[in-house]
Amino acid sequence: MKNIAGNSYIQKKNAIINLDLVPLDEIIKNYETPLHIFLKKKIEDNISTFNNIFKDVFEDFECFYSLKANFLPEICKIVNSKGVGANVVGIPELRLALEVGFSPNSIIVGGPYLPEDLLELSIKSKVKEIIVYGLDDIKKINDVAKKHHIVQNICIRVNSQKYGSKLGVKFNKNSIKILKQSIKSYNHIKVSTILSHFTTQMNDINQFDKNIKNLVSNLKILLEHEIYIENINFGGGFPEATVMSHNRLTKIAQIIKTKVDDFNIKGIYLEPGRYFVGDSGLFLTKVVKVGEDRWIFLNIGNHICPKFAKCSLRFYNASQINEPHKYKTNIAGIVPSDQDVLAKNYFFTQNLIANDYVIVTNTGAYCLTFSNRFPYKLPTIILIDGNSIKEIFDPKRDHDFSIS
Ligand SMILES: Cc1ncc(COP(=O)(O)O)c(C=O)c1O
Repeated sequence: MKNIAGNSYIQKKNAIINLDLVPLDEIIKNYETPLHIFLKKKIEDNISTFNNIFKDVFEDFECFYSLKANFLPEICKIVNSKGVGANVVGIPELRLALEVGFSPNSIIVGGPYLPEDLLELSIKSKVKEIIVYGLDDIKKINDVAKKHHIVQNICIRVNSQKYGSKLGVKFNKNSIKILKQSIKSYNHIKVSTILSHFTTQMNDINQFDKNIKNLVSNLKILLEHEIYIENINFGGGFPEATVMSHNRLTKIAQIIKTKVDDFNIKGIYLEPGRYFVGDSGLFLTKVVKVGEDRWIFLNIGNHICPKFAKCSLRFYNASQINEPHKYKTNIAGIVPSDQDVLAKNYFFTQNLIANDYVIVTNTGAYCLTFSNRFPYKLPTIILIDGNSIKEIFDPKRDHDFSIS
C-alpha cells in the first residue's frame, strides 16, 4: 500500500485506491460527483499527534479547535470526543459547540465583533474566556458579567504586527492607560490571557517565531506596567498535518518553551483549525471537459473549493492512478469566469480524458466556510470511518450546511 498525498488513510495498491478501508470504486458506484469526503480517523490522529507533542513540552497546555475551519456538526463531534476545547466567533458557532457537547469551561469566544446577545449567551453559559480585539469591549463585558454576578476571564488579542494587520490591540502609552483604568474600575472582569494569531497556513517556521516574539514583547510591556498575565494563546496557523512534519511541530513547541520559560506563565494555549481537519477532507470530482493547451475542467470550482481557503490542494487522476503524474496541466472549475482556476502547471497525467475521476486532497478546512452561493447544487458530504460510510450532508434532505 502506498500513501497518496502523504495521507495514510488514502492509499493505493496497484490500481485500487482505498479511503480508509473503503474501496474508491464502491464510492464511485454509489455516489454522484462532486462528493466531499471526510476521514474520521485522520482527524483523530491529527489531534492525538498535536496534543502529544505539545503536552510533552508543556505541563499546562490546552488547545481550542477553531470551529470556523469546519463547523459541520459531525466533524465538531469528533473533535469534541478527543477532549480538546473550542474557539468560536459568534452565536451560531457557540450554540453548536454547546450542542455537540463541548464543556463551557473549555470554550473560548471572541472576535472583532462582540454583539450584546453573544456576550449574554457566553457569560450566561460560563465560557472560559472572552477574547476582545479592542479595549472598549471590556466595559461591555463587565456590564453583562455584573448582571449575572460573574467575574469573566478576558483574553486580549494583541496586534500580530504582521504587515498591514488591523486586528488586535497595540500597546502604547494611551492603550496601557485605558487598560489599567479598566482593570481598576471594572470588578466583573479579569484580564487573564493575551493572544496573537499571525495568519493561516504558516509554512515557514519564521512566521511562528515572529508571532512568539510579538507575544513575548507584549508580555514584557504589560509586566513593566504591573499588569500580570496568566496565560498566552499563540493562535492557530498550522498547515495540514500531512504538510507539517512532527519534527517541525516539535520544534515550534520548543521555540515557544525557550521564549516563555523566563516568565511566570501558567497556561499555554493554541487554537488550531486547519491542522486538525485540513487533510481529513477530499473531493471526488470528474473531468467534465478537456480544453486546449492542457486545460481540464473539474465539476468543482471556487464556489466550493475557494482560493480564499488557502488549502494545499493536490490533484490525482484516480482513473489513471498508476500513470506518471508529471505533465504540466492547468485545472479550472465550473464557475463561468476566467478567474475560476484551481491550479496552473500542476503535474498530472499525460492523457487528459473527459469523465476521468479526480481526487482533490486537503480540502477539509475552510472550503465550506468560504464557499459561496453560486447557483450550483451543493455536494453530498460523507464521513468514512474504517469500512463504514455515513452520509452527513445530503443537499436534497438538508438543503444547506450553514449554521444558524
Ligand atoms: C484568532 C484565530 N485563531 C485561530 C485560527 C485558526 O487558524 P488555522 O486554521 O490556520 O489554524 C484563526 C483563523 O483564521 C484565527 O483567526
